[in-house]
Amino acid sequence: EKAEIGLIGLGVMGANLALNIAEKGHRIAVWNRTTETTHAFAADAGPLAERIIPCETLAELVTAIRPPRPLILMVPAGAAVDQQIKALRPLLSVDDILIDAGNANFRDTMRRFEELEGTGLSFIGMGVSGGEEGARHGPSIMVGGSAQSWLRLKHILVAIAARHDDEPCVAHLGPNGAGHFVKTIHNGIEYADMQMIAEIYGILRDGAGLQTPEMARLFETWNKGRLESYLVEITAKVLAATDPETQAPVVDIILDRAGQKGTGRWSAIEAQRAGVAATAIEAAVAARSLSALKQEREAAEAAYGLPAPAFAKADKRRIVDDLELALFAGKIAAYAQGFAVMEAASREFAWGTPLATVARIWRAGCIIRSQFLGAIAEIYDEGPVANLLVAPRFVEAMTEAHPALRRAVARAAEAGIPVPALSSALAYFDTYRTARGTANLIQAQRDFFGAHGFERIDADGAHHGPWQAV
Ligand code: 6PG
Repeated sequence: EKAEIGLIGLGVMGANLALNIAEKGHRIAVWNRTTETTHAFAADAGPLAERIIPCETLAELVTAIRPPRPLILMVPAGAAVDQQIKALRPLLSVDDILIDAGNANFRDTMRRFEELEGTGLSFIGMGVSGGEEGARHGPSIMVGGSAQSWLRLKHILVAIAARHDDEPCVAHLGPNGAGHFVKTIHNGIEYADMQMIAEIYGILRDGAGLQTPEMARLFETWNKGRLESYLVEITAKVLAATDPETQAPVVDIILDRAGQKGTGRWSAIEAQRAGVAATAIEAAVAARSLSALKQEREAAEAAYGLPAPAFAKADKRRIVDDLELALFAGKIAAYAQGFAVMEAASREFAWGTPLATVARIWRAGCIIRSQFLGAIAEIYDEGPVANLLVAPRFVEAMTEAHPALRRAVARAAEAGIPVPALSSALAYFDTYRTARGTANLIQAQRDFFGAHGFERIDADGAHHGPWQAV
């Protein structure tokens, strides 16, 4: 019996996705560049092995799938995807669908759609979030491609996706690059969420002087309230974990140098390209880059000395209690930015990406899953908003929360504790809700040195200043 679908690339994500597909009753043919991996995978699949066809060559793989063939590529983003497509093309037939399920740059995805146009082959760019666990038991899946290809794959994707209140966390978000774009912004928001949590941890550790187990309890409590989310949940767990050898909190022995594979950076780059302010996301990406400069930071600390020891004991409780709301305010601003970038890209590329659906399929399965996304879905259900910050329920939430963010950022600034994402979120909020800004001065400067002209508040048309007279 032939397989219903194929999968290439049995790394952690590919292997788990294949098991998920088999478990949901779909026969799947698999191939990996190293044949031992393919056989080891099938041998370890237990009872699911009966629905798995391990293949030693690409030709064998293609033959094992019933045409028209859906074929998932789960290989490292970039050149490997192009190489794989190139190797497959002569083996595939009209109406077969190639599905790139890696973390591709959506611009590569757009190019691949163009390259495959007229070949009779279909292509899907599919963002998959949720790490290893998600891939195995239900990821959030963001699909970009033609409506036709989506309809052909839908039953399998719905079967393997995460569920929230029994709604599958998978959707068709637009043609060509839409799915990978949304996944990229998901990761940008993921970076901002993680960075803001890390900054709160920094205030607790270096400002309030909390012990790590106390922090773990705090995050656990926060996870029962407005901050309820996977990332806050795992932060509590991470902070509670101790090193079996030294009994020290594990976080204390981890080097403070963060890696990044590129998706967060792409989301900042795309925000800039679209001319959309996504400052909390940009700050989070920059913070990872600065974290990598361990030796330079050590030298700089030696040059400047440590910041003054922080908060007075009497203030400690009040400051700590404030941080839950501060983080919530930062989160609202960061999500407002991420959604604004998606809205702009959807307009530019004519994707028609349904933002309510994006929020809805992020409620389970993915790394940024949270209650909060349900609120965002409801806002967009009511109709378009210029920015999430002016949606009535977020105006209410932000009115309550921004003073706490303000206090947290101010305290941290005074104590010399870096909070780049939180302070960017605050500055974004303050800039956005200031009707009379300071760009009048920028316009005057531009007109002074470059005769760029400016608009007047009291008359139409372009004007110039009387600079010669000055
Ligand atoms: C997900 C994640 C995942 C991403 C990792 C690592 O949604 O499951 O976003 O796709 O690859 O989080 O990303 P960095 O290495 O860039 O931190």
